[in-house]
Amino acid sequence: MKAQKTISNTENRSMIEQFKKEVDEGLSGDIKSLPSKFFYDKKGDALFVEIMHLPEYYVTRSEHEIFKEKSETIIEALQLHPDTYFELIELGAGDGLKTKELLRALDKGNYSFDYMPVDISQNALDKLEADLNQQLERVSIKKKQGDYFEVLESLKENQHPKVILFLGSNIGNMPDDVATAFIGKLSDNLHIGDKLLLGVDLIKPASIVLPAYDDSQGVTAAFNLNLLERINSELEADFDIDTFEHQPEYDESDGIARSFLVSTQSQDVYVAKLDKKYHFQKGEKVLMEISRKYNDVILDAILSETAFVISTRITDSKAYFANYVLERQ
Ligand SMILES: C[S@@+](CC[C@H](N)C(=O)[O-])C[C@H]1O[C@@H](n2cnc3c(N)ncnc32)[C@H](O)[C@@H]1O
Repeated sequence: MKAQKTISNTENRSMIEQFKKEVDEGLSGDIKSLPSKFFYDKKGDALFVEIMHLPEYYVTRSEHEIFKEKSETIIEALQLHPDTYFELIELGAGDGLKTKELLRALDKGNYSFDYMPVDISQNALDKLEADLNQQLERVSIKKKQGDYFEVLESLKENQHPKVILFLGSNIGNMPDDVATAFIGKLSDNLHIGDKLLLGVDLIKPASIVLPAYDDSQGVTAAFNLNLLERINSELEADFDIDTFEHQPEYDESDGIARSFLVSTQSQDVYVAKLDKKYHFQKGEKVLMEISRKYNDVILDAILSETAFVISTRITDSKAYFANYVLERQ
């Protein structure tokens, strides 16, 4: 059964209100930041797909290798059976590049499931659905636009067995306390035996990590700067994009990559929809996104406060990336 869902005006309005609130909070702090979940408008979606194919961006390639070569291992680790219906729910699905490998294997094995991609970007969901309808026409898709933090509570609405996909090291965009609360809330809203397939980027030297956030073609820089353009167009701001520079950093000791935009001059920026002016000093940094890298110790500390236990760990051939199958106890 193919379900349709389009974004309503109400959803659109509440998203704009959320955007205003988070931009104001981020720019009002002592250390300025902007909410990375708003990277993904139409242009941001396309730029991220470009990033995924950059030679420096090992993250997608490594996880894709796992899905291409080990889909059967994943299915086995998830303890799926062709005759038992389950919901396959993906948080922040994007273009579903890796998920398609799993969907292909499930389709081939005649598994009974609905695929439910959740994404804040309606554009990404529409493209994914159109793609899947072409490539995997037997797969039933029920897309949901929204913030995945808000979707968690709707999970308990039925008793169907569930597999949650949270791939691409999206979890790494959350500070550890937020990640712990998020996974905790996820476990609270699942039933015993449900699974979470979590993709995480592993801690490795700066010589490998840093270029992934500082590519030679400047696509990552354009991706970050696009959020200023989005604020200009949707919140009627007057950011002069040419006066901000992309600056990624990676601290190997804490395993966290941070992307900043740096103001190259002292300036004021006015955001009309907030009727507010924000001052930027010359050299002032705006934190755009963190990308935490993991090892078993960091992940164990997070999971110890949740009802999940690790059942299987699958890595790519270079051990750059790991997909963990976690089981709700
Ligand atoms: C970095 S991309 C990764 C896409 C995919 N998971 C992958 O591994 O290739 C992040 C995706 O999550 C979505 N996203 C980011 N923050 C979100 C949020 N809070 N709620 C829902 N979707 C979100 C974005 O729109 C984007 O499609």
